[in-house]
Amino acid sequence: MAKKVFVTHQLPGKRIHELSRHCEMNVWMGPGLLPSAALRTQLTGCHGLVCLLTDRIDKALLDQLPELEFVSSMSVGVDHIDVQALSERGIPVGNTPGVLVDTTADTAFALLLAAARRVAEADRFVRDGQWTAANAWAPEFFTGKDVTGATLGIVGLGEIGQAVARRAAGFGMRVLAWSRTAREVPGVEMLALDELLQRSDFVSVHVALAPQTRNLLDAARIARMKPGAVLVNTARGGIVDEQALAEALAGGRLSAAGVDVFEREPVAADNPLLRLPNVVVTPHIGSATTLTRARMADIAAANAIAALAGQAMPCCVNPQVYG
Ligand code: DGY
Repeated sequence: MAKKVFVTHQLPGKRIHELSRHCEMNVWMGPGLLPSAALRTQLTGCHGLVCLLTDRIDKALLDQLPELEFVSSMSVGVDHIDVQALSERGIPVGNTPGVLVDTTADTAFALLLAAARRVAEADRFVRDGQWTAANAWAPEFFTGKDVTGATLGIVGLGEIGQAVARRAAGFGMRVLAWSRTAREVPGVEMLALDELLQRSDFVSVHVALAPQTRNLLDAARIARMKPGAVLVNTARGGIVDEQALAEALAGGRLSAAGVDVFEREPVAADNPLLRLPNVVVTPHIGSATTLTRARMADIAAANAIAALAGQAMPCCVNPQVYG
């Protein structure tokens, strides 16, 4: 009898069609994201799950799914999944690394430039009809911060952090980095986190969200940042203390920020960052290009196909389950 696989969203790419030939596949057709209560109902009796980063896979859910044999997430980050609980049950968890590296690095750089040069603020100014003869080009009109020649501090020098470093080199930036794992990357000076924060004109965050990195940039660390610095976060919301960041921006200690990821997503309307003109915000679009999303979906499907065939997933975050 064919195994049952539940897919929590319609996916792009080609391999999802191939997956449907290997199992009895049921796809949530919306509208919108799958509510968590529906996830439990839909998953009952399923052997496999293909999910998104918006689906919370926790212990309480797993306890109700004795048949579950694998989880494949269309994301590189797996902080929405209790990987430890799955590992204890011997269940492999797949993710989609590699293919989103350059796309996410592009987003980080787009936010860095937009925040430095006040692009979103200027766009709002023009659309709101404020660009009048009385309020137009002048020596200090919409002046921002130079990127070329500035110092960039990269927090987390994995693949995406390194891709950001390559872009920074093209802008003639001095590149500093801090990483939990020892790294040697040409053109990048490795430093302790506090020193990096003190010396960087721009700080870009690229660590995964894990217990060790939750609140890594807390109020004390934000207070150590260079006066007038710009912070960019395309990693995960829980890494940066949003309230402390908003206070530093409102008080003028930091000059701007570019924020793609939030502690709570979709972001709450009363999030203090949304009230600040010097913050460029985007709705978690780091990997959002058509090609990259199709590639991510193809890897998620390939992981599921391998699991159904009793093989190791090509991209597995807990390979120890294979013994
Ligand atoms: C991921 O895959 O974890 C990214 O956050 C998606 O943009």
